[in-house]
Amino acid sequence: MNILAIESSCDETAAAIIEDESIRSNVISSQAEIHAQYGGVVPEVAARSHIEVILPVIEQSIKEAGTNWDEIDAIAVTKGPGLLGSLLIGVMSAKTLALIKNKPLIGVNHIWAHGFAAFLTDNKPEFPFLALTVSGGHTTLSLYQQDLTRKVLGETLDDAAGEAFDKVAKLLKLGYPGGPAISKAAMSGDDSKYKFPIANMGKDSLDFSFSGLKTAVLRQIQQITGVNPGDVSLVKSYDLNDKTVADMAASFQKAAVSALVKNTIKANARYKPKSIVVGGGVACNQLLREEMHKVLPQAIFVPPVLCTDNAAMIGSLAIKMAQQDLYTTVNSLSANSSLEDI
Ligand code: KG4
Ligand code: ZN
Repeated sequence: MNILAIESSCDETAAAIIEDESIRSNVISSQAEIHAQYGGVVPEVAARSHIEVILPVIEQSIKEAGTNWDEIDAIAVTKGPGLLGSLLIGVMSAKTLALIKNKPLIGVNHIWAHGFAAFLTDNKPEFPFLALTVSGGHTTLSLYQQDLTRKVLGETLDDAAGEAFDKVAKLLKLGYPGGPAISKAAMSGDDSKYKFPIANMGKDSLDFSFSGLKTAVLRQIQQITGVNPGDVSLVKSYDLNDKTVADMAASFQKAAVSALVKNTIKANARYKPKSIVVGGGVACNQLLREEMHKVLPQAIFVPPVLCTDNAAMIGSLAIKMAQQDLYTTVNSLSANSSLEDI
């Protein structure tokens, strides 16, 4: 079965052709450079940029796959969660193409799809699998079953892990997106220089909290510079030397990674899943990969290109949905910025 998958939930416009569990094409047009000048994603700008590139991106995905509309069995699209204006562009494009080309439609949950990207690799998960999904908007530990139901085991109560990387990068003036910038700066840093706390959510809890960690970095900067960087307009008014930035980045990264690893160990011990998958943008993080593999060597990390937003992962989940007849219609498909179910 061949699926054309479309993704536009945040600042990547993407389309892919997925045939069963293999990727025939995976085209991603990133807006990161456009948003970097604002220090984060500007929703209005994101939506407008999607409109400009979505049709060429879709056409390119078909061309790169060496296929044509006759061979495409269904169209899948991210219906949520995400930025409403951005989601709408993908959903409207998918609906229009479904009508014109007379193809069935599948509406896909972006967060679920991050975990299902693992089926596109050689190391395929087995159900039930535990997924740690760590992105710019979400930090979730879930258990996915063969019948495509899921149980959420733990979530962040405040900032998402990626959001914490992005906010701390801003405080350290490392630019956007913050995750890669923090890991790069951390390479030359001393991770024991600053003792940043990880939230203790209680023995039984699998939830996360990252806002205290971010505040601890902020207070440390205030102590060093005398400026309160909580007021973003003041970030420009202080300077930190390279050594301090590297040490803070390394100390922050160590704390954030250890919070993620700690709860994954707990969830694995409690639910004994057949597989563990780590996905989402933060799963690109090298320290997270190393620390997780030390304690859970079986954990499957999807390759970086499938960790950050892409349409291949949307196609991967859509294939599983099609096998269970989970199709939608042009009339009932709508964008939902806070979607939780499949
Ligand atoms: O999954 P994703 O591409 O988009 C969302 O669905 O949010 O994740 C983006 C997030 C950003 O917060 C970015 O800073 C983070 O993933 N990220 C990283 C790394 N690469 C990207 N965080 C930590 N280390 C990285 N190497
Ligand atoms: Zn994502």
